Amino acid sequence: MFKIAKYPDPILRKIAKTISVFDDALKNMADEMAKAMYNDDGIGLAAPQVSQSIRLLVIGLGDTKYKAYVNPEITFFSKEKTTTDEGCLSLPKIFGDVIRPKKIHIKYQDLSGQLHKDKIKGIAAVVLQHEVDHLNGILFIDRVEKINQGQEILDALKKQLDEQAK
Ligand code: CO
Repeated sequence: MFKIAKYPDPILRKIAKTISVFDDALKNMADEMAKAMYNDDGIGLAAPQVSQSIRLLVIGLGDTKYKAYVNPEITFFSKEKTTTDEGCLSLPKIFGDVIRPKKIHIKYQDLSGQLHKDKIKGIAAVVLQHEVDHLNGILFIDRVEKINQGQEILDALKKQLDEQAK
């Protein structure tokens, strides 16, 4: 099974590459990512979190099969905002309030390369924004308003990152 890359792994800060080949290897990768996501009780996972710097993410909400988004692009953000206590499999035990647009429009390809457009609201809109951020090297701690849990863990990780930079 894929191992989840944890902050401050530099892979999490890279801009992921656009996918142009829609083959069985891509479908297998999405399946493996979904397994890793469910194994850690996640509701979303982006490829950089399994050390693959490509524009693929999976979402697992509700009891339907996971959904894969290839080369997702958010084309509209509502002015109306929503606050969510977010966490991340790459930042275990850290949670905090993030304010994001409440509704989005998204353009993406499926695992066969077919183009889709969708209007999303509710928790799915929040999860998708969080995961698309991962493809651009952005983490929820960059946007957090208030850490609700794990401030001392985050402080220790940031210190570790500063030490690495020296
Ligand atoms: Co995350």
